[in-house]
Amino acid sequence: MSLKVQYNCSNIKWDNVAQTLKLAGMASYAPEIHKKAFENSHNVVFVFDGEKLIGFGRAISDGIYQAALYDLAILPEYQGRGIGRIIVNTIKNSLPNCNIILYAAPGKEGFYEKLDFRKMKTGMGLFCNAANMKNKGFIE
Ligand SMILES: CC(C)(COP(=O)(O)OP(=O)(O)OC[C@H]1O[C@@H](n2cnc3c(N)ncnc32)[C@H](O)[C@@H]1OP(=O)(O)O)[C@@H](O)C(=O)NCCC(=O)NCCS
Repeated sequence: MSLKVQYNCSNIKWDNVAQTLKLAGMASYAPEIHKKAFENSHNVVFVFDGEKLIGFGRAISDGIYQAALYDLAILPEYQGRGIGRIIVNTIKNSLPNCNIILYAAPGKEGFYEKLDFRKMKTGMGLFCNAANMKNKGFIE
């Protein structure tokens, strides 16, 4: 692997982002939707193997004390090689005094626990499509 990490959205092929999310089993929309979401985020991290986009993540934040992590996805064939850890740690280090919250995909809690995240006792969410979130196992 020839890993390259990018901290901005320049020259990102958004159809690759949509495709990676789909392959990783996450919510995937039209490429321009992801473009807007990443461009409007406080922190973005894209990881390449050579020229190939293999993973990414983003955080929305006030940049001062609160942040939330979204769209962390690694291409299936690159999972389990430490790339998710690099992305989360990069975001964490860029937001040194921030609490960072997220909702883990069901079954992925252990990954975040390895990176020192703790389960929240009182997390609440107001979702646009609550039935869908329930079906996917995110809410009761
Ligand atoms: C979840 C995901 C982001 C993890 O990234 P990754 O690059 O595969 O993980 P890493 O190789 O960096 O793993 C870091 C550590 O977490 C562990 N880990 C990874 N996935 C895990 C899981 N599902 N449960 C428990 N531990 C896990 C690894 O074994 C590793 O531990 P180690 O350092 O002791 O060996 C990635 O697998 C992925 O994209 N999955 C599909 C999409 C997804 O679910 N995204 C998260 C949405 S919340």
